[in-house]
Order: sequence, then C-alpha cells, then structure tokens
Amino acid sequence: MMKILMLNGPNLNRLGKREPGIYGVSTLKNLEERMINLGKERKMEVVCFQSNHEGELIDKLHEAEDTEIDGVIFNPGAFTHYSYAIRDAIAGITCPVIEVHISNVYQREEFRHKSVVAPVAKGQIAGLGILGYELALEAFKREAGKEEE
Ligand code: DQA
Repeated sequence: MMKILMLNGPNLNRLGKREPGIYGVSTLKNLEERMINLGKERKMEVVCFQSNHEGELIDKLHEAEDTEIDGVIFNPGAFTHYSYAIRDAIAGITCPVIEVHISNVYQREEFRHKSVVAPVAKGQIAGLGILGYELALEAFKREAGKEEE
C-alpha cells in the first residue's frame, strides 16, 4: 500500500481561524481527516504532521526517507520563501515532494513570489485552496499507476 506523508509548516495549525478570507474556513483537523479518508478510498495510507518549527519539519523529511514513505505533500508555509535548510532536506532525500500552497502566492506580496523549495520539488500546486492537497494525492496515485502498467 502506498504511504503518503502530509506535512504542514508554520501557522497552518491555525487553519480555519487564520485569515479565513485567504486560507478558507476548514480547520487542519478537517483537512487531515479528509486526506486520511480520501487515502483510504484510493487504497493509500496518509499520515499527517504539522509543526511550527523548521528543525522538526526537516527531521520529518529525513524520517520519511528512512521509513520508506512513497511521497510527501508539503506546505512549508512561510519557510517556502527563505528556508535553504528545508530546501536542502528535500534535495537530500529521494522521496518525491509535492509543494502545496492554499493561496495563490503569485497574486500576493512580492516576498511570496519566490519559492526556494520549488526547484527541488516534484511539482507545485498553488491557489486552489485545500483542494490542492487532494490533487497532490491524486498525482501520487496516478504516478504509482503508471509504474504498475
Ligand atoms: C502558504 C503561503 C505562504 O506564503 C504563507 O506564509 C503560509 C501559507 C499557503 O498555503 O498559501 O503560511 O504556504
């Protein structure tokens, strides 16, 4: 069974309460439950982790590699724009990472237009709300299907 890690970075624990006009009204708990259930429907195991701490996110990426996670769906929050440590952690593992942003970062402040993570990510989804996480799951599912053909 394919195992996927959904990783959320700083401030995403406050989803639903935090700037709902930008990030929507769904809470992180709702999002995590939804992803776990969607995973079950697709015969995929989804495990979830959120942290406000850069080092903990890096540790999780290393752990994903060591525990043979098949793919990571990762919203690094503001770390996206400046964390070379997170960028290097992704570059240093073979496990594919799809970068997800709830908001359309390219329509927002200029500092959000740059992602230091994107060059080492498998792909990026931005601006589609929490649907972006679901689409990332679908992408991993289809990719696995291709390998089986
Ligand atoms: C975000 C966009 C980032 O710029 C911001 O710092 C976040 C959330 C998003 O999901 O749209 O925390 O990653």
